[in-house]
Amino acid sequence: MPTFEELKPMLRPDGIHNGVMTVDKDKCTSCGLCVQNCPFRCWEMDVNNHPKLKDEYLCFSCYNCMIACPVKAVSIVQNFQVKEGFFDTDFPEVKMPLEPKDAEGNSVQWTETERLIMERRTVRNFKKDPVPESFLSRVLEAGRFAPSGGNHQPWKFTVVTDPGFISQLEEAVQSVWAGTYGACTNDEVVMNLVNVLPTGVFDPRVQYGIRCIAKKELSVYFSAPAIVFIGCNDKMTNPEMHAGICGQNMNLAAISLGLGFVWNNFGGVGVNQIPELKAKLGFGDSWTVQTSFCLGYPKFKQKGLVPRHFRPVTWFRPGIDGA
Ligand SMILES: Cc1cc2nc3c(=O)[nH]c(=O)nc-3n(C[C@H](O)[C@H](O)[C@H](O)COP(=O)(O)O)c2cc1C
Ligand code: SF4
Ligand code: SF4
Repeated sequence: MPTFEELKPMLRPDGIHNGVMTVDKDKCTSCGLCVQNCPFRCWEMDVNNHPKLKDEYLCFSCYNCMIACPVKAVSIVQNFQVKEGFFDTDFPEVKMPLEPKDAEGNSVQWTETERLIMERRTVRNFKKDPVPESFLSRVLEAGRFAPSGGNHQPWKFTVVTDPGFISQLEEAVQSVWAGTYGACTNDEVVMNLVNVLPTGVFDPRVQYGIRCIAKKELSVYFSAPAIVFIGCNDKMTNPEMHAGICGQNMNLAAISLGLGFVWNNFGGVGVNQIPELKAKLGFGDSWTVQTSFCLGYPKFKQKGLVPRHFRPVTWFRPGIDGA
């Protein structure tokens, strides 16, 4: 069994370069939407009612603050990177989407589907209005018709639209993560988690997410009017991949219906820690909740183009010896 000192590079990683954003105060109208749209609550208002980054924060460069700003006052100074240590996974620069070209190499417009994919952003702020059941049904159908290995279709869905039950779920799953946060921050207790959790859980971005949920700065289910849980049968292959493909079908279908969508693994995975709740949701023995997502009408604009990692692609073309 390794010691804490040996595992310290993973459990208390260094080399982290925080994301840095800035606000053009001449353009800013102090509407506060960037502050509301930041999942990790990185911003606060300064004495002049303009957003400024808090003294202590973790920005993982999602750019959701930027796309919420109606006057384009938010811009990027520095992208989140880990440049040394355990979680240095070779962070590339970020770039906006490349210009679309037709088969002859001429500039063209994106197709409707491409635009939907590019402008899709996570929605974490919802109106209270319920999602019509006909729309929920169309979203579920998009999942049911997803591809799967061997056509296994290993998934099962549970929909929760009862506000009372959603509040119970929020409270119960928030407690799970509050407990996990306590364990993760204690040098001795965290050792109990090392053998049961995958390495990625100790990534600083995941750890900060757990912290935000524990401190109730990040909601588990975002007071959304509808939650969908995706579970897969344990006897079938690649459950995470299947839930992901199935869920992304539902994500795109939801946006096409004018709905907002947030994946919430914290909500999905957290439920597995509470067996009674997992069973109540319809995932008994042999079933594991792989993820969940929330749906609702967006409270304000939460979509738009952002840059993303531009990692070199290895490409073998005809007539060229090698990559
Ligand atoms: C599998 C998966 C799980 C996620 N879980 C959560 C979650 O629990 N809570 C949350 O606020 N966002 C969650 N997200 C949303 C990501 O934070 C988001 O997709 C990422 O920051 C990129 O931002 P974008 O979706 O706006 O492009 C999850 C996304 C994926 C794909
Ligand atoms: S880029 Fe994302 S994490 Fe960073 S401040 Fe903006 S909303 Fe918050
Ligand atoms: S969203 Fe834009 S206008 Fe509104 S407070 Fe933020 S920077 Fe200012």
